Amino acid sequence: MESRGFMEKNLLLSFFLSVLSLTVGLSRAQMVPAMFVFGDSLVDVGNNNYLPVSIAKADFPHNGIDFPTKKPTGRFCNSKNTADFLAEKLGLPSSPPYISLSKKKDASSYINSVSFASGGAGIFNGTDQTFRQSITLSKQVDNYIAVLKFLVQQMGPPSTENHLSKSLFTIVIGSNDIFDYFESSNLRKKNTLQQFVDLMAQTLKGQLKRLYEYGARKLVLTGIGAIGCVPEVRVENETHECSEEHKFWSVRYNEGMKAMLKGLKSELQGINYSYFDTYSVMQNVIQKPSSYGTNDHVFWDLYHPTEATARVFVDNIFYGPSQYCIPMNVRQLVSV
Ligand SMILES: *[C@@H]1O[C@H](CO)[C@@H](O)[C@H](O)[C@H]1NC(C)=O
Ligand SMILES: *[C@@H]1O[C@H](CO)[C@@H](O)[C@H](O)[C@H]1NC(C)=O
Ligand SMILES: *[C@@H]1O[C@H](CO)[C@@H](O)[C@H](O)[C@H]1NC(C)=O
Repeated sequence: MESRGFMEKNLLLSFFLSVLSLTVGLSRAQMVPAMFVFGDSLVDVGNNNYLPVSIAKADFPHNGIDFPTKKPTGRFCNSKNTADFLAEKLGLPSSPPYISLSKKKDASSYINSVSFASGGAGIFNGTDQTFRQSITLSKQVDNYIAVLKFLVQQMGPPSTENHLSKSLFTIVIGSNDIFDYFESSNLRKKNTLQQFVDLMAQTLKGQLKRLYEYGARKLVLTGIGAIGCVPEVRVENETHECSEEHKFWSVRYNEGMKAMLKGLKSELQGINYSYFDTYSVMQNVIQKPSSYGTNDHVFWDLYHPTEATARVFVDNIFYGPSQYCIPMNVRQLVSV
């Protein structure tokens, strides 16, 4: 009886402690309290499964074939994507899709991490129209603000502020906007490509400022990858080469984004960020996949990298040299 009572007390205590650590602090393996993910299909973990009209979906075979459940999850990949691996590195479970959490109507499910990302999304409101429906970046930030209000109710303003200031805000977006420009004669009439990519960086900056206003202090941003080399673009070239035009403009945009981030840091007090040069790392993987241990496919479908490629990205995002991670990698960002 004695020992049973002791056990029960211990169980109760450890239950209490784990609830406490969920609410106010970190469990031992966690490097940050939470990660909030924004972006497109490169990091969507299932939000689009809930969008009835969207044609940007991955809820059918053979997506997910190498996932632990072997089932489609809504990830545009054979298994886990960049967001999953980044969470793993941080000692966090994958950030669950916001829409699945919002259906539970249980505010406590927002405490750890949330993914707002949606396949087909762009920096611009209109970009998603090609896919009929997706959650634009602007709307993703609105959804985050709704979550923040729940957190404040649960934890109170000071704890929420502390929780958010140590959390990571990961944003992977922009490729769809550039694809959209190449496909839309309307957009081409309105702006030159230079104006368009400048406007992308400025619009992204506006959304980052909103995140800052609502508590974000540590940002992880990835530049656009080698979108001129995705299979969908390569098949359009008779010799199946990468598109020089896509290459040129994704690099241009990335330069603009880097400059924008530098400016943002000088404008907003207490902000730190890690920018990842996806383009260069992806280019290296495409040219020399074996040196990264990928002896199979770099791409899973017409647009998206395989799990193996996503793993290479995250190893570099997390531990990468200052050549690719500007001004620091995510491991450094965590401990700033
Ligand atoms: C984008 O849509 C939001 C509504 O979700 C609106 O508040 C915002 O002004 C729009 N942005 C632009 C540039 O039109
Ligand atoms: C195919 O790609 C090569 C290399 O970028 C380029 O020189 C050539 O013009 C492209 N062909 C077409 C049909 O676009
Ligand atoms: C992080 O941001 C703060 C506030 O801007 C700054 O003082 C600090 O030097 C930054 N840390 C690094 C490693 O850049």
